[in-house]
Amino acid sequence: MQFFIDTANIEQIKEANALGILDGVTTNPSLMAKEGITGKDNIYKHYKAICDIVDGPVSAEVISTDYEGMMREAHELVEIAPNIVIKIPMIKEGIKAIHSLSGEGIPTNCTLVFSAGQAILAAKAGATYLSPFIGRIDDTNWNGIELIREVAEIYAIQGFDTLILAASIRNSRHIVDSAKAGADVVTCPLPSILGLLKHPLTDIGLAKFLADHAKASK
Ligand code: E4P
Repeated sequence: MQFFIDTANIEQIKEANALGILDGVTTNPSLMAKEGITGKDNIYKHYKAICDIVDGPVSAEVISTDYEGMMREAHELVEIAPNIVIKIPMIKEGIKAIHSLSGEGIPTNCTLVFSAGQAILAAKAGATYLSPFIGRIDDTNWNGIELIREVAEIYAIQGFDTLILAASIRNSRHIVDSAKAGADVVTCPLPSILGLLKHPLTDIGLAKFLADHAKASK
């Protein structure tokens, strides 16, 4: 399973990259706004800065909601760096754009996915990645991990190549459960990645090892 970080924060991307386990980055317009990045030039410069840090796929989301606009933005975004992936919302015009971009060999990430039916459509259109939003599904008293499991089953039965990218991860347990449910990629905020490190018995065990070593070395 691949690990992406879900942020536009440069320091957090550097910190995750320094761990040596980072395979890529996802962003969205809300994450860009959170960093105070506004205006097309600044946003494109920011994507370039991220692509200079990470070699793996970097998802850059289109703002247009019509086919022509999405295609125009996609063609501009792919010029930024060779590892840019075009993030397209799961809407009718988006499916058309994913199909066209797939035909041009441009990688896509179909975002805002909340159902298995949407997952089938995105795969049929040739999406490279599919982003089911598991945290937001959980927020509606449904089960985001069950959607990952259902899509993984369908893609395996049907032989679809689209990679399942578990998104809207809210905690470390979501990462473990996504792995069990068949996600190919998880995109996570930094605290959820770092949370995987934590276990009280590790801390207690290490403190004891170091204390015993110090005692024996006296
Ligand atoms: C995915 O690519 C999205 O950027 C992201 O995971 C959404 O997460 P949120 O529901 O925490 O905003």
